[in-house]
Amino acid sequence: MEFLLKTRVIVGAGKHEELGANLPWRRALVVAGANVQACGTVDAVEASLKKGGVAAVTFAQAAAEPELGLVEQGTEFLKENAPDADGIIAVGGGSAIDLAKAIAVMATNNGPLASYEGAERFPNQPLPLVALPTTAGTGSEVSPSSVLTDPARRYKFLLWSKRIIPSLAILDPVLAGTAPRGVRLNAGLDALTHAVESALSLESTVYTEPLALQAIKLIKHRLAQVVLGQDSRQAMEEMLAGANLAGLAFSQTRLGVVHALALPLSARFGIPHGAAVAALLPYGLEFNASVSSDQYDKILSALGSRGELPEVIRSLARELGAPLKMRELGVAAEEIPQMAEDAAQSGHLAVNRRRCTVADLEAIYKAAF
Ligand SMILES: [Fe+2]
Repeated sequence: MEFLLKTRVIVGAGKHEELGANLPWRRALVVAGANVQACGTVDAVEASLKKGGVAAVTFAQAAAEPELGLVEQGTEFLKENAPDADGIIAVGGGSAIDLAKAIAVMATNNGPLASYEGAERFPNQPLPLVALPTTAGTGSEVSPSSVLTDPARRYKFLLWSKRIIPSLAILDPVLAGTAPRGVRLNAGLDALTHAVESALSLESTVYTEPLALQAIKLIKHRLAQVVLGQDSRQAMEEMLAGANLAGLAFSQTRLGVVHALALPLSARFGIPHGAAVAALLPYGLEFNASVSSDQYDKILSALGSRGELPEVIRSLARELGAPLKMRELGVAAEEIPQMAEDAAQSGHLAVNRRRCTVADLEAIYKAAF
């Protein structure tokens, strides 16, 4: 058994102002989404860096489901504008953080990036990373994964490496309070799915299970508040903590069949990752039910619910207005066989509690359609 904690995590309202003071760097690249820049968050981060004596240039073009071409653009930007950067600061949702990770890898490796798919595949140490998440969701601020899209192959893949885990993460509800409602919903359901899949993973341990179950409790308690707009800073702070704990848990355990199935939905139809996992989660749970009853009881207890776990999750998503079927998300039924082939490539299947063939994946897609 092994348990790795690499990230210093600072939590609290206004803590983003302390970024510069906590960085031993002289020069940095900031990677952010355009929407994050528009709401003033990037200005606040730059001001903190300036106060701490860190010179920064900003690449504010992060987009949802980052593509290989965007990584190339960001790497070029770094080489032209900040070739001596000591590290990269990601400000945004999971997509911005994943983009920053890929740029950190390509700053010191020759690629091609797609050849680094999988675990620990690139040779050289990437640039150090810091993350300020503006959504409570992906856990990318503490995770070893970066999810990237290859549009030519309509394929999403993962880089997985301890070397791209950020060294510092600042969880600030002031920053996360700027995200719109749909983003909060998708991010929150992604975090819930991380916690559930981590608790079910074959690699779940006495170290990770408490993190996953506590994440489920916090997310169940706070998700509706932050999505339906009755949020307070306290609620958002606990959502950020829940998503972060789920990230710590799945960083050790990996995920499972739901995340494997979700990749092609985003790669082929541009469906937001959180919406994809949320629609698939009840069907993945139905598939795993015959081998997971003890773990299902623990998850139900963390949710404070009784009954059948897939149905409990389904009604939670329904109450929040999340789409429940793949067809509502725009998936084309004729692509299901190829989607099943692509999903079968995912490393997450190795830790899924029930063994899973391509035919099984296809059957789950059909049930979820
Ligand atoms: Fe996810």
